[in-house]
Amino acid sequence: MSGSNEVKYGQPTAPTSGATSTRKPVTVPEIRARKGGVPLTMITAYDATFARMLDEAGTDILLVGDSLGMVVQGNPDTLGVSVDDVVYHCRAVASGTRYAHVVGDMPFLSYQVTPEDALRNAGRVIAQGRAHAVKLEGGSAIADTIARVVAAGIPVMGHVGLTPQAVHAMGGFKVQGRDAEAAARIVDDARVVAEAGAYAVVLEGIPGELATRITAALDVPTIGIGAGVGCDGQVLVCYDLLGMTANLRPRFVKRYDEGFERVVAAARAFGADVRARVFPGDEHTFGAGKGG
Ligand code: KIV
Repeated sequence: MSGSNEVKYGQPTAPTSGATSTRKPVTVPEIRARKGGVPLTMITAYDATFARMLDEAGTDILLVGDSLGMVVQGNPDTLGVSVDDVVYHCRAVASGTRYAHVVGDMPFLSYQVTPEDALRNAGRVIAQGRAHAVKLEGGSAIADTIARVVAAGIPVMGHVGLTPQAVHAMGGFKVQGRDAEAAARIVDDARVVAEAGAYAVVLEGIPGELATRITAALDVPTIGIGAGVGCDGQVLVCYDLLGMTANLRPRFVKRYDEGFERVVAAARAFGADVRARVFPGDEHTFGAGKGG
């Protein structure tokens, strides 16, 4: 801010890497075409600042996950998230995104009651939230709903296996499809969801061999989380990836940073500076005269 009288808070910055200048926006046809090719990357985002950083990093897909109920709102599960919440966070993410494909998660009971409800709510996520697609959890039970939303021109990403909105039915966030019967049900769910028109399917919390089998059986890309390396892409919650969750270290997460410790250390350093009257220094302080 030196040399300027303007006070700017958190202004958007231009991309810092020249590499981004040749990038084109990631589209549904491109995602479909990545089946069996270079693996897709998807990371959750909930605000414009994170969206800008993840987009700058070349992430293909930003998912405004209903995990926001846990990592942003601090709830024990995703069930309390509303369509208004998803629309709000999608709009923020869309504002910070130039190239990535933005997917809005349809929250609990926004699509399970009637296909008409589903279409109306998906339409809000697209029109008001400015997402490019929606994601719905579930298999055969929601196939007609997926077909209805897709028929209206809204791309749908499926999500089978461990479906967090069914946390109580599953008895917790537990790996699914471990026995032959449960595995066959998940294979069937994934196939039905793809046949209903989903352009990609998230496979969450299932054994690696099962995910590899489903990936081979589908014409559309699979994106795994806790599903091994055999998928067409991988997704992580950004706070997990950055190590911002203090006590939670699930096996399927690779922490690429220790964000929790780093934020605590930065906040401690700020506190120490303020208490010692070291911050703000002269360089952070405006003078009385013009240009001062
Ligand atoms: O809500 C979410 O973040 C998700 C991903 C974990 C796939 O659904």
